[in-house]
Amino acid sequence: MKAIVLVGGFGTRLRPVTYAVPKQLIPVAGKPMLYHVLDLLPPDVEEVVLATGYKAELIDAYVRAHPPRWPVRTVPEAEPLGTGGGMKNASAGISDPFFLLNSDVLAAVDLTGMRAAHAANGGIGTMALYEVDDPRPYGVAALGPRDRITAFVEKPEPKDAPSRWINAGVAVWGRAALDPIPPGRAVSFEREIVPGLLPKGVYGFRLSRYWEDAGTPERILRAQELLFDDHRGGPGGVPTGARGSGPVATMGAVSVRDATFGPYVTLGDHSTVEPGARVENSIVMDGAVIERDARVARCVLGPRARVHAGHEVVGQVLGEGAEA
Ligand code: GTP
Repeated sequence: MKAIVLVGGFGTRLRPVTYAVPKQLIPVAGKPMLYHVLDLLPPDVEEVVLATGYKAELIDAYVRAHPPRWPVRTVPEAEPLGTGGGMKNASAGISDPFFLLNSDVLAAVDLTGMRAAHAANGGIGTMALYEVDDPRPYGVAALGPRDRITAFVEKPEPKDAPSRWINAGVAVWGRAALDPIPPGRAVSFEREIVPGLLPKGVYGFRLSRYWEDAGTPERILRAQELLFDDHRGGPGGVPTGARGSGPVATMGAVSVRDATFGPYVTLGDHSTVEPGARVENSIVMDGAVIERDARVARCVLGPRARVHAGHEVVGQVLGEGAEA
């Protein structure tokens, strides 16, 4: 079986960091978000096709330099084609069925179990679903017997939401699901195509553990906590020469001395945390510097960002090279 991973979005909600780095390469609990998504794939997957667009060349270069365990091919889009157009554009030679993964969903999903459920259901598709309190920003499924999806409403008004089970961004589709996608233009798979596929049998696969759509600063940090708590962030103690409590994931060489860490921190390659500084619940990207006695909490610091000595920065996203 092969997999298509949708990697073409602009990541607008994570600007200004995503002006420099595509969302999928932002490190979360010690590795780029994309690699946590790939970790869900069963080992026998034959090929992963990355449907890329925005900053495709950076994603291509990264996967070449850090090859995942599956053969990977990138298929860039000249113009953003949306989720459906991206799938269609990347679908040459795809298996039947295939996995479809959003690249910003950080979750516990048993894809081997899901593949088996799909085969047992016998329909055209199986979508992972997660129950949330407020389904309004998502695609919401109505479920019938055997969890067959009887209606699918994208971003409903509260009165129109048929349930609280939302599209978790992970699915198994038969190749025939690609047929109704018109070629050569932007298409939303969820909005324009999925409702028309329901008569062919689309089933829900309920997720029971954790799930986060890591598309906003708050959610990427929440996802980082979930991954660390699920031991997906490496050993996670505090770096040598530091105090406080982990988990802290370091990616490459870091310079840390007499600093204090709170929980849930990722330190990128060549990042620096100077004496007296405190860092908690944050992502500190490559080459970023936190100067003496500064405090950083609930922040995403872009590559080579700098927090000046003694400053306190809470709940901020700093772009590449930005200073605070
Ligand atoms: P925001 O701009 O912050 O909404 O983020 P986003 O651009 O990633 O959009 P969204 O979170 O809705 O995207 C869901 C998934 O589809 C993500 O994995 C995106 O990378 C992917 N995606 C969105 N638009 C496109 C596109 O035009 N082409 C491809 N190939 N993937 C896309």
